[in-house]
Amino acid sequence: MKTASEPCVWQSIRETAQHHVNSEPMLGSFLYATILNHEHFEDAVSYHLAGKLDFGSLRGMQLRDIIDTAFKGDPKICEAIQADIIAVRDRDAAVDCCLVPLLYLKGIHALATYRVANWLWKEGRHLLAVHLQNLMSEGFAVDIHPAATIGKGILMDHATSVVIGETAVVGDNVSMLHEVTLGGTGKQTGDRHPKVRSGVLLGAGAKVLGNVEIGEGAKIGAGSVVLTNVPAHCTYAGVPATLVGKPDSAEPSLDMNHGIDI
Ligand SMILES: CC(C)(COP(=O)(O)OP(=O)(O)OC[C@H]1O[C@@H](n2cnc3c(N)ncnc32)[C@H](O)[C@@H]1OP(=O)(O)O)[C@@H](O)C(=O)NCCC(=O)NCCS
Repeated sequence: MKTASEPCVWQSIRETAQHHVNSEPMLGSFLYATILNHEHFEDAVSYHLAGKLDFGSLRGMQLRDIIDTAFKGDPKICEAIQADIIAVRDRDAAVDCCLVPLLYLKGIHALATYRVANWLWKEGRHLLAVHLQNLMSEGFAVDIHPAATIGKGILMDHATSVVIGETAVVGDNVSMLHEVTLGGTGKQTGDRHPKVRSGVLLGAGAKVLGNVEIGEGAKIGAGSVVLTNVPAHCTYAGVPATLVGKPDSAEPSLDMNHGIDI
């Protein structure tokens, strides 16, 4: 695990961008357009995300308007995006700053899109929320239903093929790798998706199916198929997943230790 959280994410992003304007001048106009021309974090996120989602069905200006409206409607959205960026900076061994997640990592782009879509969903604007879900899925290969409930400080590492269903719940400070599914079994209706509590680490390709609970601080091995509740602070792995050990820390999502820890 890398060191503690940044007190001021936006200041740190701007300083890193300014550094790279000097060290990599070819990216200067891109860094000014995305970061340095903006006074506030919110403005930079809405500018960049709108550009990422502009595939033609909604123009960049329309998307920016939607995103800005959501940010004004609920300031906690941007707090959550900042917590997600810090989560990447602190837990992803390949990242050492807050600029890279904001500019380049589609886990952050997908989560930010979900957070806007979730706000629209709660405002009753379901079709526009699903429209954003579709743009997220086509653009980032991540499919999160706008009605899902997701906390803050989420690391979605690599992110490709992550699927999170309509009634899924994900607590704070959860880490998940690519190809994780929080899906239904196809046999239940209504509240039919997993409830993942805080501090959980979900390995690459883990399939959690049905309205099962993954208890706080649990760890799920890569490629597992989880069909039952998993008690807090236990490690489950296999197909179907069974108890194989206990994590050696209270929140395995934070230290990203992928071992079984028997
Ligand atoms: C639906 C499903 C979970 C199994 O339902 P089911 O047929 O009622 O089976 P059960 O849950 O009763 O399980 C029967 C046995 O098969 C095992 N099993 C179930 N699904 C399994 C799977 N995917 N892989 C390996 N074993 C599996 C169970 O552990 C159980 O073993 P046991 O009898 O030794 O305890 C499974 O068929 C499945 O994976 N469906 C696809 C769901 C999906 O893709 N959802 C994603 C939506 S986004």
